[in-house]
Amino acid sequence: MDSGTLKKIAETYGTPTYVYDEERIRENCGKIKREFEKRYPRTRLMYAYKANTNLAICRIVKNEGFGADVVSGGELHAALKTGVSRSGIIFTGNGKSAKELEFAIASGVMINVDSLDELDTLEKILKKKNKKVKISFRINPSVNPKTHPKISTGLRESKFGLHLQDDVALDAYARAKKNKNLEIAGVHMHIGSQITDITPFEEALEKLMQFVLRLKSELGIKLKFVDVGGGLGVRYKDEKVVSPGNFAGSITKIFDSYAKKIGYTPGLWVEPGRFIVADAGILLARAISIKKTPYRNFVNVDAGFNTLIRPAMYDAYHEVFVVGKSGGKRTYDVAGNLCESGDILAKDRKLPDVRRGDLVGIMNAGAYGFSMASAYNSQPLPAEVLVRKNRIELIRERGSYEDLYFKQKVPKDL
Ligand code: LLP
Repeated sequence: MDSGTLKKIAETYGTPTYVYDEERIRENCGKIKREFEKRYPRTRLMYAYKANTNLAICRIVKNEGFGADVVSGGELHAALKTGVSRSGIIFTGNGKSAKELEFAIASGVMINVDSLDELDTLEKILKKKNKKVKISFRINPSVNPKTHPKISTGLRESKFGLHLQDDVALDAYARAKKNKNLEIAGVHMHIGSQITDITPFEEALEKLMQFVLRLKSELGIKLKFVDVGGGLGVRYKDEKVVSPGNFAGSITKIFDSYAKKIGYTPGLWVEPGRFIVADAGILLARAISIKKTPYRNFVNVDAGFNTLIRPAMYDAYHEVFVVGKSGGKRTYDVAGNLCESGDILAKDRKLPDVRRGDLVGIMNAGAYGFSMASAYNSQPLPAEVLVRKNRIELIRERGSYEDLYFKQKVPKDL
C-alpha cells in the first residue's frame, strides 16, 4: 500500500485504523486453494473466522469458495450472516454451551465434538428435540508443533480434543455410532498456529490417518472428511516458512499413501486463518509524541495492546515503518498509549527520524489483530478500511465513547 493511500486513509478516517488489501486476501485464498485442489480435488478450505471476523473480509473469503471454521455461537452467526452454506461450516471449541449447541443444531452445521461430556450434552439435547446432526470429533494427536506455547494446541497436555491414548477417541466413535441421532461424518485435529516446520504436521497427520484406518477396520466407520486444521505460519520477521505448495504437497502425499489401506477416499478439510489475512492488513497509527529518555527513545503512538495484543501476549514481532520515510537512523521502541508498561508494540527498531504527527504502519496485522482488540483503558475500538482496486471503503466505523457504555445499566438509586 503506497504512502499516498495511507495518508489519505488517516486523514479521512483517523487513526488507529486497520487497513486491509482486498487483492492480497484474494491472492492468498487462491494460492492455498489451488495448491490443495490440484493435488487432491476433494479438498475443502474452511477459513478460520477467529483470524479476522469483519463481515466484508468474511464475504471476500466466502466468495473465493471457502467454508468456515467457527468456534463460538458468535462466529457461527457471522458465518451464516456471511452466507456460508450450512454444509460448509464446522463448529469447533472445547467449551460449547448448551445454548451454542442448540444454535448449531438448529443451523444444521457440522458439530466438532471435543469431549465426552460435550457428547453427553449433545446427545441429551438431540433426544429431547428428536433431531439428528452430523458430527466429527476433534482428536488430540499429542505432538509438539514447535511454535509459541500459547498457540500450541495439540500437545498431549493441551486442553483440546480427545486423546488417542487408551482408545479414548476410538471409544467415543463407538459410542456415537450407536446413537441414531448422530451421523458420524469426520475427524478433526488442529495442532497449533504460526507453525514454520512441516514435520509436526506430518507427524500428527500420520497419527490421524492411522486412527482413520482403525475406525474403518475396527468399527467399520467410513468418514466423509478428515480435517487437518490450520496453522500454516507466515513471515513476520525472517522466519523460514513452509510454502502453501510444500504444505499441500506433504499433507496430500500422506493422504494418498493411506487411500489404498483405508479403502476409500475421504474429503480433506483445511482451516487456514492467519495465512489468508495476516499480510493483507496494516495497523495504521499516528505518532503522538517522541520521547528521548536517558535510556531509550520512544515513539508514542495512538494504538496499544487494546488494538493489537500480539506483541504483549506472545512477544510477537511485527515490522514497523514510518509512512513516507525510509532508512534506519535511530533505534526506537514503539510504545502504545495504554497505562501499562507492557504496552510496547515494537522494541529496538531502527527507524528513520520519527516526528510527532508521522504515521506509523504496523505490518502483518490482518490476522488476530482487530479480532483480539478490546476497549481497555476505555479506548474505543479502531476503524477498519478496505483498499479495493481503485477505491477505499470503510468496513467498520471507529467506535465512539457512547459505545463504551453499550448494554451497561446503572441501578436507578445510584
Ligand atoms: N482451526 C482451529 C480449530 C483453530 O483453533 C485455529 C486457530 C485455526 C484453525 C487457524 O489457525 P491459523 O491458520 O490461523 O494458524 N491469537 C493467536 C493465534 C491463535 C490461533 C488459535 N487457533 C495469534 O495471534 O498468534
